[in-house]
Amino acid sequence: MDYKKKILITGGAGFIGSHLVRLFVNKYPNYQIVNLDVLTYAGNLANLTDLEKKSNYSFVKMDIVDASSIQELFETEQFTDVIHLAAESHVDRSITNPTEFVMTNVIGTVNLLNSAKHIWNDHFEGKRFYHVSTDEVYGSLGNTGMFEETTAYDPHSPYSASKASSDHFVRAYFDTYGLPSVISNCSNNYGSYQFPEKLIPLFINNIQNNKALPVYGKGENIRDWLWVEDHVRAIDLIFHQAELGTTYNIGGHNEWTNIDLIKLLCEIMDKKLNRKTGESEQLITYVKDRAGHDLRYAIDSSKLQKDLGWKPSLQFEEGLTKTVEWYLENSEWLNSVTSGDYQKYYNEQYQKR
Ligand code: NAD
Ligand code: TYD
Repeated sequence: MDYKKKILITGGAGFIGSHLVRLFVNKYPNYQIVNLDVLTYAGNLANLTDLEKKSNYSFVKMDIVDASSIQELFETEQFTDVIHLAAESHVDRSITNPTEFVMTNVIGTVNLLNSAKHIWNDHFEGKRFYHVSTDEVYGSLGNTGMFEETTAYDPHSPYSASKASSDHFVRAYFDTYGLPSVISNCSNNYGSYQFPEKLIPLFINNIQNNKALPVYGKGENIRDWLWVEDHVRAIDLIFHQAELGTTYNIGGHNEWTNIDLIKLLCEIMDKKLNRKTGESEQLITYVKDRAGHDLRYAIDSSKLQKDLGWKPSLQFEEGLTKTVEWYLENSEWLNSVTSGDYQKYYNEQYQKR
């Protein structure tokens, strides 16, 4: 078959990447989708078993830090587009091991930019490099205000510093070489297939197993939560319609203090597990705060709503309920990702608090 596009999606075995790969493979049978992932602890091919037999889908196991293999792959495959999600993505791990974040998030991104620039060789028409980033690059808000696309970068964690750096490189390649790029910065995602190191799946797993719920500090930090499927719908729109060189913020105007979110989650879990009202809340345990913990994130997504007509499809309570149901119905997935190294990570991360 003659495909209209050959798109490299990096990090497609991870949480957001697997949702994006699924959307593109199913929605665009005339696009060939190549999913590249090195399969770290966060990457899992079990996230994509439904796509294995699709003729417009293939998987390549490769490290984006390995410049020569990446270069060779680009030369052989001649991708028309790149959507780049591969990253080390967990703030707590970045505090323990910042260098790994520099390698994957900064060097890995520059390797991809170099390879795209090399194969496209100034013939940029019809080509696109889409870099998927985070609102954490903007730093922390006080009680008021929101992140706009023009907000100055002010990252605090090694994770957000590495993502900020990668964003700067993408813009530098657009400004210097004209490499056709777009960037989006999204708020906290939740939904199925998220690795249980992030707040929501970690706490679902702990509630289910009657384990303590380690709330950092006083639980007063605020995050702006978006359902992952709404994020990938926004990526689809931006990929197809955004003007080159532009940036879009993605977020659901859905701010929650951690403690309010956790109480809502406990309430939903009590119902689903037939527990007495208030039973799961008793697992809440306040622990030592995260170092450099950003107080508040909030995204102004009005540009995306106005330019491209995007809006979130789900109310938070509905999305959170669907998410809880998914984890309860997919205990095999949850058990497989929490076996092995997970226990070691968990003990190291939480015993010291
Ligand atoms: P994730 O940790 O679930 O998945 C990352 C994927 O990248 C994994 O499959 C992993 O195996 C792969 N990967 C890591 N290092 C690699 C390397 N060196 N070479 C090849 N593959 C590698 O992350 P996620 O939550 O799905 O995030 C995806 C992207 O979206 C990241 O760039 C992240 O910064 C961004 N983002 C995430 C959120 C969020 O709330 N999760 C919000 C905004 C933006
Ligand atoms: P997380 O899911 O790690 O996302 P991010 O740090 O990228 O926003 O954390 C969301 C919020 O929950 C953040 O304020 C830190 C807090 N948190 C806890 O209180 N306890 C935990 O065990 C974790 C993982 C997070």
